[in-house]
Amino acid sequence: MWGRFGGRDRQTVRKALEIDRFEGKEGRACLIHVRAGRVLVVGVGKAASFTLEKWRHAVARAVVRGREVKAREIVLAGGRHRVWEDLEAATRAFGEAAEMAVYRFSHYKKPENGFEPDSVTFVPSAGIAGNPRQVLDRAVRGARAVNFARDLVNEPACAMTPKALAEAARRIGSGVSVSVRDEAWIKRMKMGGILGVAQGSVNRPRFIELHYRPRRPSTSRPIVLVGKGVTFDSGGLSLKPSKSMETMKSDMSGAAAVLGTFRVLREIRPPVEVIGLIAAVENMPSGSAYRPGDVVRTMAGKTIEVNNTDAEGRVTLADALVFATRRRPRLIVDLATLTGACVVALGERIAGVFGNDEKLVQALLASGERTGEKMWAMPMEEDYKDLLKSEVADLKNAGERYAGAITAALFLREFVGQTPWAHIDIAGPAFTERDLPYCPKGGTGFGVRTLVDFLLHQA
Ligand code: BES
Ligand code: MN
Ligand code: ZN
Repeated sequence: MWGRFGGRDRQTVRKALEIDRFEGKEGRACLIHVRAGRVLVVGVGKAASFTLEKWRHAVARAVVRGREVKAREIVLAGGRHRVWEDLEAATRAFGEAAEMAVYRFSHYKKPENGFEPDSVTFVPSAGIAGNPRQVLDRAVRGARAVNFARDLVNEPACAMTPKALAEAARRIGSGVSVSVRDEAWIKRMKMGGILGVAQGSVNRPRFIELHYRPRRPSTSRPIVLVGKGVTFDSGGLSLKPSKSMETMKSDMSGAAAVLGTFRVLREIRPPVEVIGLIAAVENMPSGSAYRPGDVVRTMAGKTIEVNNTDAEGRVTLADALVFATRRRPRLIVDLATLTGACVVALGERIAGVFGNDEKLVQALLASGERTGEKMWAMPMEEDYKDLLKSEVADLKNAGERYAGAITAALFLREFVGQTPWAHIDIAGPAFTERDLPYCPKGGTGFGVRTLVDFLLHQA
């Protein structure tokens, strides 16, 4: 990349950094005007602590700053570090971060600076050969799917109703078959959990099924992805306080991650059969709402005492998971903004991973490691099962104050039978209330990159 700059330009850069006392501290940046253009030097901290994720952050800073200064052409240079020497990983990280960093939700408000660069290029250090085109292409497609998921989450709940979510699924269109079932079908299927949660809202529920069939599947049984699709969670009659309710349009982030993943599947067509399931519902208080103390009967016949109408996600997922097992999958993964307790345990940046199959959990953690989506394995403590015992039904939907993320996962496990299953509680990382290096405030699209990486490794 230095090729286009003359010796004098290099001299200018060196001098400017010296004057600025630029030491390369993480997050610091320095823009320098030279004859051949402008050089932005982005600090990444000490070499010993430089990681792939810090490279993503640096890429994001560079493209966001590049947009601010209206750079038409942005060229990012790598260097001599093991992070850049794994060319495939560095290129993927570059492509994803560059595309995700420039995301803005602009449906209702024009961005102040609408400038977009003509090109963003990554030049690994001399001696490392070429840009792997397919890697970059997939990275950008993956990132666009993340941005698509962010758009779905960022739409206000008045626009992203169960019906609208189903229409968004339908628009994924060719290459993936999408069926949307209405309430009459949900009734025929005896999905009493979905119906119970949905009955308080004027926005009627939908059951969405996506099916991606490769030409030559590598195995005979499909993988099922289930996404929590509560388009707004008021808490129902167990109403949330207004502060906690403010961001509850994001309660369909699991569904958004599944839809984003199908967009990528359609485009890159890996040899693995995948089914996506979303029970789209709105959780509202009203004269027709389900009440604390009500009992609902799920598709499998198991009954649930609803002691808290705000623990609605698991009630809808119960039916979706039973339906998933009917598709005879080799494994099920669900993503859900399921519990505030998981946010207490792991904070806003890390998702909790639960499951009944250690290998599956490990495979998901490995995908998270590669993609930079942070996840942590959580225990399925058998002793806590007692917290879900009910006097009147097979189980109740909400446990006590403590271990809320674990009891929620134990609840879900009751509905998957012997099928290998993992549950990712994304209540923390699905939504951000502050700007992150490659994600502005709002929906993050968390899960898409991990699911895509996971599916590619299953193929
Ligand atoms: N959608 C919420 C969980 C949530 C909380 C997501 C914060 C994102 C941020 C879920 O439906 C819920 O309300 N869970 C309850 C369960 C409780 C009533 C057992 C919770 O976590 O408080
Ligand atoms: Mn809730
Ligand atoms: Zn919820």
